[in-house]
Amino acid sequence: MIVLSHFQIQPLLKAHQQELTTAITSTDLNLTTTAGQLTSEGIIYPNDECLSWDDAHEIADAENNCFILEDRSITKIQGFSEFTHRHYTLMPTASAPTMLISGIPMHRIKDTNPFEDTLSKVKTLAPVAGRVLDTATGLGYTAIEMSKTAEEVTTIELDPAAQDIARLNPWSRTLFENPKIKQLIGDSFDQIEAFEDHAFSRILHDPPTFALAGDLYSLEFYRQLFRVLKSKGRLFHYIGDLNSPSGTRVSKGAFKRLQEAGFKRVERRHEAFGLLAYK
Ligand SMILES: C[S@@+](CC[C@H](N)C(=O)[O-])C[C@H]1O[C@@H](n2cnc3c(N)ncnc32)[C@H](O)[C@@H]1O
Repeated sequence: MIVLSHFQIQPLLKAHQQELTTAITSTDLNLTTTAGQLTSEGIIYPNDECLSWDDAHEIADAENNCFILEDRSITKIQGFSEFTHRHYTLMPTASAPTMLISGIPMHRIKDTNPFEDTLSKVKTLAPVAGRVLDTATGLGYTAIEMSKTAEEVTTIELDPAAQDIARLNPWSRTLFENPKIKQLIGDSFDQIEAFEDHAFSRILHDPPTFALAGDLYSLEFYRQLFRVLKSKGRLFHYIGDLNSPSGTRVSKGAFKRLQEAGFKRVERRHEAFGLLAYK
């Protein structure tokens, strides 16, 4: 599958203008590189797939979209969920893409990128070992990062439409290929009840905003997180910029409820935009 964005196509348009006939490019959003032939017809990729110059211009002009090239035609990576009534698109960055949920990026992209954002979240839980829980799959970046050292990662996604977008994202491939990652579809608020006490050594809780998923910031849910965490385990709870007005407000409430749920020590981790709670 060839997945493209303006980051790959703009340099090829430039190279074609300069009358070059080959150029190094990528067919998986810059995970790997390959050679493209620049012909009068369009760009020819090593598997003989061809991107016409008209389609190349369309991709180059679409700053917020990624496209699949198949059978010489392009399709925008996007979806609408009948379930949540949300619109999902894959948005490219110079690094890993993010997903826009009704226009809102699910990772940090200002002054950083989704890849660095993921590393800063997971770093708060280092060393990540044993069985770990990721409460909100999204594009699977946190699950994938934790699977590098954990024994097993359980990850939960509410919306099958979000999972469908992840399936088309080259940077999410490991989510579907690594047997150490167990994917569940459902609401974390309900699914967590099925896990036994002390099941996980680490929990990464990266929910949508408070306005979109208030349940996942509730005392009831935090009590469940505490219950399923091993003693001496750690929970990272992404909130957003702790210095912003909404981040300050939401983190203040979350901080208090986490303590009430049993977490004796809770720290603000400004660099990772969240709270770290110790059991
Ligand atoms: C901020 S994103 C998570 C990003 C993810 N950690 C990653 O690294 O790509 C939040 C995700 O949680 C999903 N979600 C929303 N409500 C949920 C719920 N109640 N239970 C599980 N997943 C939920 C959303 O569909 C979205 O895909």
